[in-house]
Amino acid sequence: MSEPLVLGIETSCDETAIGIVRGRTLLANVIASSVDEHARFGGVVPEIASRAHLEAMLPSIKKAVADAKISLNDIDAVAVTAGPGLVGALLVGTATAAGLALGLGKPLYGVNHLAAHVSVDFLTHDLPTDPTIALLVSGGHSSLLQVDDITDSITKLGATMDDAAGEAFDKISRVMGLGFPGGPAIDLSAQSGDPQAIDFPRGLTTSNDWQTRPYDFSFSGLKTAVARYLEATPNYKKADVAASFQEAIVDVLLLKSLAACKASGIDSLVIAGGVGANSRLRTLAAERCQAAGVRLRIPSPALCTDNGAMVAALGSLMVAAGRAPSQSAFDADSSLPVEVVSL
Ligand code: KG4
Ligand code: ZN
Repeated sequence: MSEPLVLGIETSCDETAIGIVRGRTLLANVIASSVDEHARFGGVVPEIASRAHLEAMLPSIKKAVADAKISLNDIDAVAVTAGPGLVGALLVGTATAAGLALGLGKPLYGVNHLAAHVSVDFLTHDLPTDPTIALLVSGGHSSLLQVDDITDSITKLGATMDDAAGEAFDKISRVMGLGFPGGPAIDLSAQSGDPQAIDFPRGLTTSNDWQTRPYDFSFSGLKTAVARYLEATPNYKKADVAASFQEAIVDVLLLKSLAACKASGIDSLVIAGGVGANSRLRTLAAERCQAAGVRLRIPSPALCTDNGAMVAALGSLMVAAGRAPSQSAFDADSSLPVEVVSL
């Protein structure tokens, strides 16, 4: 089968998302988000997310099938996020996918949400994504990966010791009163600020850190530094704080990504996950990768944040690589390690 038609289901957090791809062509990408229901709590509430998935699931599948102009019977395989994520939210997706695959008599692939973030680039750029260094920066995870084969060989080079990059954006946005989710809010506010206004710390970049944990991240010191600055500066300029904070995060993410490219001799970098939508990260990554002779790939902002297309894309790659499907009764795994591409 050269061009598998794959339906992907993503429910790891607050997006009920259905994607349909044929080979590497995106046919439908439907996203129903419950983000507005969580906003007043300042973060995602698992129970609300699970209930919203239940309500949005069938209408979203119907819309995706209509958008793709296919019939459900045409589908060659069903892929679903098996983890990591909120367990109640994941279960809505895995139960739906298992039922759908069983009903259609088609194979089921339970795949890793993080690997799916990386694989979505395959729908945009011509080149294979592997081997590559991948910077995966989302609301729940921040890691540097070496991807030798996106369907079964991912090595973690380093990860955050505390907050994920997106989480740091969300928390700082909250203390600055910029709202939730914080990433887009800080990105917007930073547009009118000076990134050099305040010299915030770059975590884990001392010469000792470069020796002992070159590919790990830490954002807690930065978070504390921003909070102290806000307390000590009653008339602070929001845009300058946003821009300087954003610059500190983006700078360190790229320093470590390019160091990993250099040390591994892999001249390819994929940036994936919600923080990949950040405009400053995209601009600075393009500049620094060009200077270092590294080929950069970042999916469009809409494909960086959670979506179903990424799950379908990884499913399509699994089918094309001849990987074995999952058992229909596999368990969702809320803390699925990044190295486990499928269950
Ligand atoms: O990948 P994602 O949609 O969900 C997870 O798997 O976590 O990532 C969500 C995270 C949130 O923390 C959000 O604030 C952040 O991505 N984010 C951004 C931007 N857009 C979304 N962070 C910085 N700049 C953005 N433009
Ligand atoms: Zn994600």
